[in-house]
Amino acid sequence: MYQPREHFQSGHRFGIEFGGAVLSFERVADVLRRQWPIIAACTGASLALVIVYLVLAQPMYTANARIMMDTRQTQVLDKDSNASSALIDTGYVDSQVEVINSDDLILSVVRRLKLTEDPEFNGSNPGLLSMVLGKVMSLFGTGEPASQERLEHAVVEAVQKSLRTERVLTTYVLSLNYRSRSPDKAAKIVNAIANAYLVGALEAKYQSTKRATEWLQQRSIELSEQATASDRAVQTFKAEHNIVGTSRGLMSEQQLSDLNTQLVQARASTAEAKARLDRINAISDQDVAQSTVTDALNNSVITRLRAQYLDLQAQYADWSRRYGKQHLAAVNLANKMEELRKNIADELHRIGDAYRSDYEIAKSREASLEKNVKELVAQAGDTGQAAVKLRDLESAADTYRNLYNNFLEKLQSATQNQSFPLSEARLISTATKPERKSSPRTVLALVGGLVGGLCLGFGVAFGRELLSDVLRTPGEVEEELGVKCLGVLPDIRPPTKTGPSDLSRYVVDHPFSRFAETLRNIKVSIDVARLTREIKVIGIVSSLPKEGKTTVAANFAQLIALTGHRTVLIDGDLHTRSLTRELAPNAKSGLVEALSDPASLGYHVQRSKETGLDFLPSVVASRMVNSADVIGSKAMAELLKVLREHYEYIVIDLAPVMPVADSKAVSLLIDAMVYVIEWGQTTRSALQESVSGSEVLQKKLLGAVLNRANPKMLKRIEAYKGKHHNSYYVEHT
Ligand SMILES: Nc1ncnc2c1ncn2[C@@H]1O[C@H](COP(=O)(O)OP(=O)(O)O)[C@@H](O)[C@H]1O
Ligand SMILES: [Mg+2]
Repeated sequence: MYQPREHFQSGHRFGIEFGGAVLSFERVADVLRRQWPIIAACTGASLALVIVYLVLAQPMYTANARIMMDTRQTQVLDKDSNASSALIDTGYVDSQVEVINSDDLILSVVRRLKLTEDPEFNGSNPGLLSMVLGKVMSLFGTGEPASQERLEHAVVEAVQKSLRTERVLTTYVLSLNYRSRSPDKAAKIVNAIANAYLVGALEAKYQSTKRATEWLQQRSIELSEQATASDRAVQTFKAEHNIVGTSRGLMSEQQLSDLNTQLVQARASTAEAKARLDRINAISDQDVAQSTVTDALNNSVITRLRAQYLDLQAQYADWSRRYGKQHLAAVNLANKMEELRKNIADELHRIGDAYRSDYEIAKSREASLEKNVKELVAQAGDTGQAAVKLRDLESAADTYRNLYNNFLEKLQSATQNQSFPLSEARLISTATKPERKSSPRTVLALVGGLVGGLCLGFGVAFGRELLSDVLRTPGEVEEELGVKCLGVLPDIRPPTKTGPSDLSRYVVDHPFSRFAETLRNIKVSIDVARLTREIKVIGIVSSLPKEGKTTVAANFAQLIALTGHRTVLIDGDLHTRSLTRELAPNAKSGLVEALSDPASLGYHVQRSKETGLDFLPSVVASRMVNSADVIGSKAMAELLKVLREHYEYIVIDLAPVMPVADSKAVSLLIDAMVYVIEWGQTTRSALQESVSGSEVLQKKLLGAVLNRANPKMLKRIEAYKGKHHNSYYVEHT
């Protein structure tokens, strides 16, 4: 049973399948072997192009300068720079790239270096196109100054094109590369651009600080006014509300606490005066001789009087006992004592009066103080409200004052910055004259050309293989048909067109050729198959016309006949009858006549004296419509039966499978089919279609043969067989 691609389903080879085609190592090697000239040509062409480019291209030199965005430098003066301003964000660095590339900056460099006068820029040796363009533009005559402006603009664009500014990875470093035809100029221009940027950055910084200073100044004046106004408001309010600030607080509070202290003192002294008065009142009723009186009073006058009284009392007691109470001296003493007692009472009375008046004074003082306190407390209520308002005013005043102070400080540092502006950027590497050209890069270009050429070559080679869809190796044939490939027949066309050699008898003329040897191989394969079953009738078939059936059939039959076997060759292609035209152009009758009259067979067969091959030609008056019926008829079966008896090998040249049905019709009567595939011509699709169309044909298929292989290509494909392989096919004439 015919099973295409059986090999792969059984997994004998390993490979990657994609797009229906299998990319195995062997296949790649096959393709390389076949297609290496293409690959080599592509590589060569690409290398040649690269070399031409290298020779013709103008050498360019690149100079490099680097600018660093320094984050720390600015902090020297900017004391209050916090984390956010200390870190330059990445967007800032990136935008500096744009600043460097900006028209204004480049224009300043162009003007400074007078690049418009440089032949590299102003096109004093312009190309044809720009010359023509210039002429055309001058027709519209926009005047001289405009053209100068345009020239500058063009130079700026040219410089921008040659300048490549980029941030170095994630650092704060900007790298400036400038390409020019002259190394000196490259370095000069890139340094000028870097300097222009640095100066520009300083200028920008100066301008911005200047603007900031102006603003700060204006604002600080406003603030100062506001602060003064709010201070004044505080003062006015205080005056209005009678609030005097002291070191210990507001006046009214202070007064109150003082008054309170006084009141307490007054109350204490009132109580003391009252106590004294009470005591005086109490003791004035008692006997003056009582010691308690003097002790309590501690009055020097009374103490003295009392001492005199006590002396007199002691003398009276003595005298009255000695002389009697009626004695004049005693009576005198009693009078003196009475007088003293009266004196003491008077004195006490006087003291009592003094105490009373003291008491009265203390009482009235206390009352006055109490009244004052009451008044003050009432007043304090009002003052509390005013204090709240005052605090408001004061805090506003404080705020303004602080703001104002702050602004003053800022203004100071800004003024400092303005007088000595610092930029974040500095030049960390000045461009020097480049030693080597930066482009074209010889090695890189060559390697690129090589790799590119190889890739292109491989692409073309594999593309051709995939697109061609043709068969070239026995492996491919076996894979496609699922039967053995019996051999590869080389193209046997003579190298020169002189002396047309007869291809139909090639094996006779070239018995040692590879062609003959391959056919012998086919015979051996058939003989091996004959060991297990009878194979006498061998059909030579192919998908399409002109694939070499006739040539193969004729040579094969002659080869067998030459070995001494009884062989008959039948021209079974009733349509073209090319075999008959080749071998027996004068034949008058043949296969068709033999079919209608089997007995006359011997009469139609022609024998070649040289090879001993019997040939049954086909002769038809006009093209037959029912050729398939004729060749697949019972009569044909009968004829073959007769032939089987006489011959060991019956070779039939058949019609192609795809255009006509003849081969399918006759396949049942044939023992084995040999399929001819034209090397590099027959497509897989044609093969698939023609073989899968007939089951009988599949069953009878013994093997395939690749015909007309390009000998040169064959050599490449079979390189693995070694260089001595072909030495056996050398012909000795
Ligand atoms: N191996 C070969 N080398 C050179 N030319 C060949 C070979 N096989 C066939 N040809 C040529 O190809 C043409 C067609 O061959 P032919 O045998 O008539 O094909 P078919 O019978 O399949 O139509 C003929 O001109 C023949 O000479
Ligand atoms: Mg033919």
